Amino acid sequence: MAVAMAAAVTERWDGLLVGASLATLDDDAGYGAIGRGALGWKDGVLGYVGTADALPGDPASLADEVIQADGWITPGLVDCHTHLVFAGDRAREFEQRLQGAGYEEIARSGGGIVSTVKATRAASEEDLLAQSLPRAQALLRDGATTLEIKSGYGLDFANERKMLRVARQLGDRLGIGVRTTFLGAHALPPEFSGNSDDYIEAVTEWLPRLHAEGLVDAVDAFCERIGFGNAQVRRVFEAARALGLPVKLHADQLSDGDGAALVAEFGGLSADHVEYTTQAGVRAMADAGTVAVLLPGAFHVLRETRLPPLAEFRAQDVPMAVATDCNPGTSPLLSLRQAMQLACTHFRLTPEEALRGATVHAARALGLSDRGVLRTGLRADFVHWRIGHPAELCYWLGGALAERVFSGGKVLQT
Ligand code: NIG
Ligand code: FE
Repeated sequence: MAVAMAAAVTERWDGLLVGASLATLDDDAGYGAIGRGALGWKDGVLGYVGTADALPGDPASLADEVIQADGWITPGLVDCHTHLVFAGDRAREFEQRLQGAGYEEIARSGGGIVSTVKATRAASEEDLLAQSLPRAQALLRDGATTLEIKSGYGLDFANERKMLRVARQLGDRLGIGVRTTFLGAHALPPEFSGNSDDYIEAVTEWLPRLHAEGLVDAVDAFCERIGFGNAQVRRVFEAARALGLPVKLHADQLSDGDGAALVAEFGGLSADHVEYTTQAGVRAMADAGTVAVLLPGAFHVLRETRLPPLAEFRAQDVPMAVATDCNPGTSPLLSLRQAMQLACTHFRLTPEEALRGATVHAARALGLSDRGVLRTGLRADFVHWRIGHPAELCYWLGGALAERVFSGGKVLQT
């Protein structure tokens, strides 16, 4: 008897949420819905995902804290593509574009990314953290529990390092998972004007030093007319491969540059944007298991009309993730749920595809297998939403639908 009681005590969960419906996403299709569900967790890991009726006892006897809830529970959202660490803003550029100036035109005349580089270089690490924190908090409040954050507005060793350090500090400060991506090959800084090969050489030298400090989880580049060419991206990817780091790519956003095929050739985690990706690119992605990261915020803000090859992605079973691309130029978007909404309206994703895109497939785009679905043994990252059906996550524009957001079994306070 004493032995049995001891066993019951050690299996007691830290928390148990009872009564809400669960969208587990733990099936190949559908929401993986469980009506009147229950979710138990211990030490930051899910210990029970199922119906309330099948719980092995009275809730109060099973967990230290029992939360009675209605509404829906989904996995914590994973924002797998952001540039949220930056200083300043580009609201003035937004006005210029509305008066007819093009994004590429502004970039070529010294505005665009390079103007954010100036502001980011001028900011101290503390100031950069202070400016970036509210953006991360906004994403969390609307359900994100994992954020990918890229460098790419420093474009020299010290400032790329500063950005990556701030990204790590945001994760620590907020108690969430942050994955950092080195995007040194984002734009050509003015001091390397006319010398892009030398700049790429410098980028490949910074990478191992930043990696040695534990600041890099993946490597990205901007493969584009106003970014870097395929041969240059290849050099960056080879440097990543030498360190065993996974790669991803801003591919085929403004023109077809064979970016998707290039990142697939390196077994990349994801090809992102992909509006101009061709059928051959899609096939290469399917063969390599590379995720397509759709960024409808940039599509929307740039008033793009060219759609990503959605039918081909579906036909070839290429997983489609959805992310905010939160950045000061093309996507000042502070809600992943809003990105899901835009993916439905612009790309005609179903709400279920959009939810999978912001959870299961987004986790895969970051190489993470410990989150993205509600399943025992995975991280207790989940959101309790005040909704009557999961499609509402993509239906409302704006608003505050998240009742509570849990990361590793702890309620996030933002
Ligand atoms: O993902 N395409 C390049 N990078 C960003 C834009 C960055 C910027 O304009 O500041 C993007 O859209
Ligand atoms: Fe981006």
